[in-house]
Amino acid sequence: MQIVRTPGSARAIARTLLRPVGFVPTMGALHDGHLALVDRARRENTSVVASIFVNPLQFGPTEDFEKYPRAFARDAELLEAHGVDVLYAPAVERMYPPTFATSISIGPLAESFEGARRPGHFAGVATVVAKLLHAIEPTSLYLGQKDIQQAAVVRAMVRDLDMATNVVVAPTVREVDGLARSSRNVYLNATQRAAAPSIFRALSFVAEELLRGERNAPRILAAARAMLEAPLVWDYLDIVDPLTFAACDPIVLPAIVVAVAKAGVTRLLDNVPVAGADGVLPLVSMERVIPLVSQARVR
Ligand code: PAF
Repeated sequence: MQIVRTPGSARAIARTLLRPVGFVPTMGALHDGHLALVDRARRENTSVVASIFVNPLQFGPTEDFEKYPRAFARDAELLEAHGVDVLYAPAVERMYPPTFATSISIGPLAESFEGARRPGHFAGVATVVAKLLHAIEPTSLYLGQKDIQQAAVVRAMVRDLDMATNVVVAPTVREVDGLARSSRNVYLNATQRAAAPSIFRALSFVAEELLRGERNAPRILAAARAMLEAPLVWDYLDIVDPLTFAACDPIVLPAIVVAVAKAGVTRLLDNVPVAGADGVLPLVSMERVIPLVSQARVR
């Protein structure tokens, strides 16, 4: 695995890779969710690039940029073991020299829920992802469903700016008790960790009610909100339109049940997409399974 540190060297090396090229951007502190993205990129592409960059633009002034977990040597070993060809790990000064001033603004999609609570967050995400895409020029970009509004924002940017990359949104990887894998789970103390699976139970309850045909959002959401275990408290739990990320009113499927629960200052994000009548999940890209029979024919 080659490690490159500057946008210029990343572009030069990425242009030598056999296509298709899959790209997995990360902020490091890798867990099984990241590695599932890498493994999928490996299965679906000839070459794989990953990046590690803790992006200061997407953290608010009171957020955890300084204390965000960093484990570069371990992360690099994991990426190499999972078959990554190139790791792009730029320094902050190379990404944002003193003259840097450009920002990508996405519009209303980036203003509700996470966008409303973290002003500037999605502009920071969109700007860094655009820079990474320009450096790597991948065939496909792999993002996790856990940050589903981020995935919607990046898809909108790629579409609106005519970027030549597919955006693949891979299903959330969970602990056995249902908690979504996240680099920030290391912040949880034992009591918070024990309560954390109640987030996914509440989300699943809402999804099941919607699939049963229930459409009374206040009733469903009130019952689900009562399922959260102390000491966690809801920041939000709602049902949103996958195209706009506005709260659904009235409820029409497909929809996404989105939630953030707070464990002290740690915000635990999760979501459950609910398919419409066609059975297709909003935003999530299911893996294309190559049938064994056609694999046999290829051989
Ligand atoms: O999801 C993340 O880890 C980050 O937001 C991303 C996409 C790598 C951009 O910094």
